[in-house]
Amino acid sequence: MRSYLFLGTLLVCGLVGAQETIESQLQQVLARLDKLERENEERVGRTQVAFSAALVNSTTWTDVGPFNSYKTLEFKRVITNIGNAYNPDTGIFTAPVKGLYYFRFTGVVGSSGLLNAGLKRNGVNIIAIHHKAGTQASATNGVTLELEQGDRIYVQIWENLTIADQSRLSTFSGFLVFPL
Ligand SMILES: *[C@@H]1O[C@H](CO)[C@@H](O)[C@H](O)[C@H]1NC(C)=O
Ligand SMILES: *[C@@H]1O[C@H](CO)[C@@H](O)[C@H](O)[C@H]1NC(C)=O
Repeated sequence: MRSYLFLGTLLVCGLVGAQETIESQLQQVLARLDKLERENEERVGRTQVAFSAALVNSTTWTDVGPFNSYKTLEFKRVITNIGNAYNPDTGIFTAPVKGLYYFRFTGVVGSSGLLNAGLKRNGVNIIAIHHKAGTQASATNGVTLELEQGDRIYVQIWENLTIADQSRLSTFSGFLVFPL
């Protein structure tokens, strides 16, 4: 009789112990689920990335340049900037996540009558536009690029040249196609 009581006590203690283990495991799973949900929300937030901006914010025909060295163009009139990865104060887009991106830029030749401008990634020329047909001609180029998080993309104009705009003609755009 005593031994049955002993066995019974053991069994009850064992069950209570098992229940506590299951509860603590459940707590751990729920905590992990919470963490994953939060991480996923952050990732989705960082993967909504698109911008478009025009060079000047004035509707009067404006020449930008010439400069005495390569100059990063600050496209000031922001049209779209979802995710705020493009900074109109510096002209630099910074990739918020590793992914495949698409960029496009257009430039209208200013009073220099010649335009050379290039899209750079972290200081390296990727694609360029070139036009020497005279003022008010325009050139466009676009590229898909695999970027690492933190890569910097911007458009630079060559020394001694000018680019023109009246808030709609010379533009810089980009967006994340998909994260990698
Ligand atoms: C652009 O021009 C508009 C109209 O003049 C003005 O309201 C706006 O503040 C300007 N934006 C910038 C970034 O200068
Ligand atoms: C830019 O202009 C300066 C001053 O006129 C000249 O010395 C320089 O060679 C020019 N650069 C180019 C690439 O034409």
